[in-house]
Amino acid sequence: MKTRIFDNLNDLNEDFTSWLKELLAEKADLTIALSGGNTPKSLFKHWVTNHADDIDWSKIKFFWSDERCVWPNDDDSNYKMVKENLFDHLPVSKKNIFRIRGENDPYKEARSYEEVLQNELEVVNDISIFDVVMLGMGDDGHTASIFPHEMNLWESNNLCVVATHPKTKQRRISLSGKTINAAKNVVFLVTGASKDKIVQRVIEDNEKAKEKYPAAKVQPTSGNLTWFLDGYAGRLLKEKK
Ligand code: 6PG
Repeated sequence: MKTRIFDNLNDLNEDFTSWLKELLAEKADLTIALSGGNTPKSLFKHWVTNHADDIDWSKIKFFWSDERCVWPNDDDSNYKMVKENLFDHLPVSKKNIFRIRGENDPYKEARSYEEVLQNELEVVNDISIFDVVMLGMGDDGHTASIFPHEMNLWESNNLCVVATHPKTKQRRISLSGKTINAAKNVVFLVTGASKDKIVQRVIEDNEKAKEKYPAAKVQPTSGNLTWFLDGYAGRLLKEKK
């Protein structure tokens, strides 16, 4: 596990982009699961402004770590956020975009997204293996759409699960812990002062945190886990690597 802490969002976005470019250089194509939230939104804007021409976008296949069960034109849709901030501005072919269809029956869609993953990704022991899973973390320690009140979903045998937001009761479709931890690389992008305590707990008190917070259970078997943090989110960490 590595933690990388940056003074500002621009430096974080730039460092993450260099990391991704190194990975891209080694591969014919790359599969990535995107997350929702504000931190990735700023990354996508950064790509459009600064990296439209120096990344071979045709090499990347885009998936999602989670989706809200809404129509793709709903403001809550993670797909809509990526479309408006990234796909509408870059040469990304439709054939490389594999969205979770939030408008469908959640249970049917979870099964059919598993089929998509099985068809499009490398499969080892029946598990679909992403090159990169991008995650955020909520103040409550949730990640993707697995929330603390549904820790059991993390352990699911399925590749995708149907979750419920604790307050709004909105249905979500999420990758399970099994799929997330099987990825070749997992990255957290976490910013903002409201995340400082949960970042510290999940990273520095991990054994205890694993009982309560889904984010603490992110431990890819590859060992390749990197936390990209801004100074606010990382300010309580004792060891600032
Ligand atoms: C979602 C996200 C979710 C998000 C965190 C952090 O669909 O809601 O995937 O897990 O990553 O809530 O979001 P911020 O980047 O906005 O802090």
